[in-house]
Amino acid sequence: MKTGVALLGCGTVGAAVAQMLLNEKEHLLRRTGQSLELRRVLVRDIHKRRDGIPKSLLTAAPADIWRDESIHVVVELIGGLEPAQSLIFEALAAGKRVVTANKHLLATHGTKIFQAAARAGSCVGFEASCGGAIPIVMALTRGLIANDIDRLIGIVNGTCNYILTQMNAGNQTYVQALAGAQAAGFAEADPAMDVSGMDSAHKLAVLAALAFGIDVPAEKIDVTGIDSLQDTDLRYGRELGYACKLLAIAEKFQNGISLRVHPAFLPVRHLLANVNGSFNAIDVYGHASGQTIYYGRGAGGRPTAGAVIADIVDAATGTAELLFRHSPLLTRRRKATLLPTRKILCRQYLRMNALDRPGVMHRITGVLGRNGISLAAVAQHESRAGDYVPLVVMTHAARDGAVDRAVAQIDRLACVRGRTARIRVMDPGA
Ligand code: NAP
Ligand code: HSE
Repeated sequence: MKTGVALLGCGTVGAAVAQMLLNEKEHLLRRTGQSLELRRVLVRDIHKRRDGIPKSLLTAAPADIWRDESIHVVVELIGGLEPAQSLIFEALAAGKRVVTANKHLLATHGTKIFQAAARAGSCVGFEASCGGAIPIVMALTRGLIANDIDRLIGIVNGTCNYILTQMNAGNQTYVQALAGAQAAGFAEADPAMDVSGMDSAHKLAVLAALAFGIDVPAEKIDVTGIDSLQDTDLRYGRELGYACKLLAIAEKFQNGISLRVHPAFLPVRHLLANVNGSFNAIDVYGHASGQTIYYGRGAGGRPTAGAVIADIVDAATGTAELLFRHSPLLTRRRKATLLPTRKILCRQYLRMNALDRPGVMHRITGVLGRNGISLAAVAQHESRAGDYVPLVVMTHAARDGAVDRAVAQIDRLACVRGRTARIRVMDPGA
């Protein structure tokens, strides 16, 4: 039997999915045993030029899709909360199976949408919502299902990783690299979602739900993006043997679960420090499996289209419906208590602009000491101009809350100008 497919949205990902469905039909049939037929594509503007997509498939009226009984699977690739959410509910009400790449929507209303799908005897595939081409949803819902997951650490935003790779290598400024990521189709329609860390937080909410069976709204996740990083700190980090990456971290402790997104320095020999460009990697620790790592292209039309089509195939074969009928990770999640980041222990890189005078170093290290923060290394760069010099401090593991307090006190010292730059440091196995 043929499976009729409709796409909602035909941008970077939608166009790549349409082209694969139209041009690689025979290959997909050979690989999957499924005959997938693209029957409709919903867009805002049906007059816009869309290479390789017949005009006859385009519509601006969702009802054309809901009432067409030859369409079985509806793929939402519009992005954002509305109209994406309403269209998914309309598709489910019309008896369609659904696929989406929309992590923003799933991080915000995922459990509600999944429960509606299960009640309707349907399903929502969402492999492409996290990690682009990486089958991480499949790994967490199937391959690792016997495991109690303790920790998941990921580079899950291709745009930020592309920008940081260029900056770490000293090749491009932040602004140049962001423009490159947008031109390559990695960035969200609003790239602030990427660089603010929110896109990573959305993906972390989706992944933590699968890893721990919890329902956590993304707005409860502690998020720092890459938009306030400075080239200077990446350069000093490089001199010290570290690369900076935006990490999404989910960790289970005895007294709660910590979910956080922030830039971090990783020793250059660390596996994640060597994930470059638009690539993503997700490091998962299970109680039986131990460490497993998933790596691949995290953004871009074609890599993401491959994951979307895998979901269409699971919807076509009934595999996704079975998962929705049985998996508590999708529809029976529990509320979680999140551990505040201030309680986390971690090493920190600090840089202040300090007055180049006797006793200044003593005042700054005194503040750190009074807050119980022990120093691993201190380096003062020689002044070439002016009275202020960059002072770089690497701490031993310290409570994040103690570092918050110390930084606030240092920034009030008369001998310090501007605000202290701060980047957490992740050590392998720490
Ligand atoms: P995009 O390039 O901005 O495309 C969005 C598409 O949605 C456009 O075709 C647009 O129509 C259509 N659209 C917008 N509002 C609409 C409305 N009200 N009614 C009908 N159509 C509407 O976005 P994208 O990069 O393909 O991303 C799509 C989704 O995939 C998002 O959820 C994103 O987070 C996710 N995703 C993206 C990537 C990536 O690498 N880009 C990777 C993984 C997941 P027009 O063409 O007529 O303007
Ligand atoms: N904007 C996202 C990123 C797309 O750069 O990772 C993939 O989800």
